[in-house]
Amino acid sequence: MISKAKILVVDDDAVIRQSLSKALQKQDYDVRTAADGSQGLETAWEWRPDLILLDVILPGMLGTEVCKLLKENLKTRYIPVLLITSLDRPADVAAGLEAGASDYITKPFSEVELKARVATHLRTSRIIGELVGIEKHISLGRLTAGLCHEVNNPLTVVLGQLEMMQTMVAEQRPQKCVRLAFESARRIQALVRAMRDYAEPLLRPREDCDLNAVMASAVSLASLGWAGRAIEVRMELGNAVPQVRGDQEKLKQVFINILTNASQIMTESGTITVRSGVLDGDGAWVFGSVSDTGKGISKANQDRIFDPFWTTKENWQSPGLGLSVARRIIEEHQGRIEVESEEGRGSTFRIILPAFTLSGGDVTATP
Ligand SMILES: Nc1ncnc2c1ncn2[C@@H]1O[C@H](COP(=O)(O)OP(=O)(O)OP(=O)(O)O)[C@@H](O)[C@H]1O
Ligand SMILES: [Mg+2]
Repeated sequence: MISKAKILVVDDDAVIRQSLSKALQKQDYDVRTAADGSQGLETAWEWRPDLILLDVILPGMLGTEVCKLLKENLKTRYIPVLLITSLDRPADVAAGLEAGASDYITKPFSEVELKARVATHLRTSRIIGELVGIEKHISLGRLTAGLCHEVNNPLTVVLGQLEMMQTMVAEQRPQKCVRLAFESARRIQALVRAMRDYAEPLLRPREDCDLNAVMASAVSLASLGWAGRAIEVRMELGNAVPQVRGDQEKLKQVFINILTNASQIMTESGTITVRSGVLDGDGAWVFGSVSDTGKGISKANQDRIFDPFWTTKENWQSPGLGLSVARRIIEEHQGRIEVESEEGRGSTFRIILPAFTLSGGDVTATP
């Protein structure tokens, strides 16, 4: 059975929502509606429609801002957005197209035109979907090949050591074999755990999270790993940082991964500075950053550090998944992760997330 194409209508005007839904349902599309931008974003991220009809003028967050957020998120990047706009507002159309919208329809809309435009964009979207599917298949193949390679090495050691133990039992001296087999088994465990984190989607319901509290808790946990070393931590957390929406534990894990990297790169001693705040110039975003005084990352390597299994560490506990897991979690939160680094001076990893108010979940427009 061919499933119906899914269309999301985002408009604060109940009459328009209803008339668009009716017209689209008549064409046998599966239609859902949202009355404002944040509701529209939530539905888009969870339901993954094939096409979105988006009013430009919405209460709270404007349609252009919604469109930008949709295009920044991997899950919704390829969904075509058709703006709903009035004939007398050409500037809105220009801003919307610049934000990534594919096309627009004008109010009051003609059913024939709506039908034609929706069908055209659904066709394009289907082709893009197929291409993205092929690309995903290729990266999944790469990931699986990397995993097989990484699991195979420690497994060979475990098997070899166990075989040797069999012949050594008579001598009663199996300690070295046990240690090696144990280390390799732990390496497999670390790999499998990291793979689980990488593959696991966000299963828990999203909640309002205090980024400062998440970061402070991540520092307490991660610092257990560098206890006894001369690493100074400076906390420069911003005041009144708006809350973010998401999975607190996963966000904590992101900061633990980044803090752990920072501590590992500073072999002798060093300073880790943890900052948070509202992003300059755009109050709809908050950031949390971790800076270190380690050896930095070369320009060439900055492109590779987020690849799964890419590592410069030779110990068995570092499969090279920390940053790819972090990036995946942040993208699940509709955010992004940036790195700034200078060789010999240190690095800063910055997590940028959409800001939400304490109460309802609407994006704030903090000045
Ligand atoms: N703060 C940093 N300074 C310098 N290099 C870094 C920093 N963070 C990450 N890197 C580089 O990026 C690589 C990948 O990091 P990532 O966290 O993904 O994997 P890993 O730390 O090697 O292993 P894992 O996190 O799985 O234990 C590291 O091996 C290191 O070379
Ligand atoms: Mg790491």
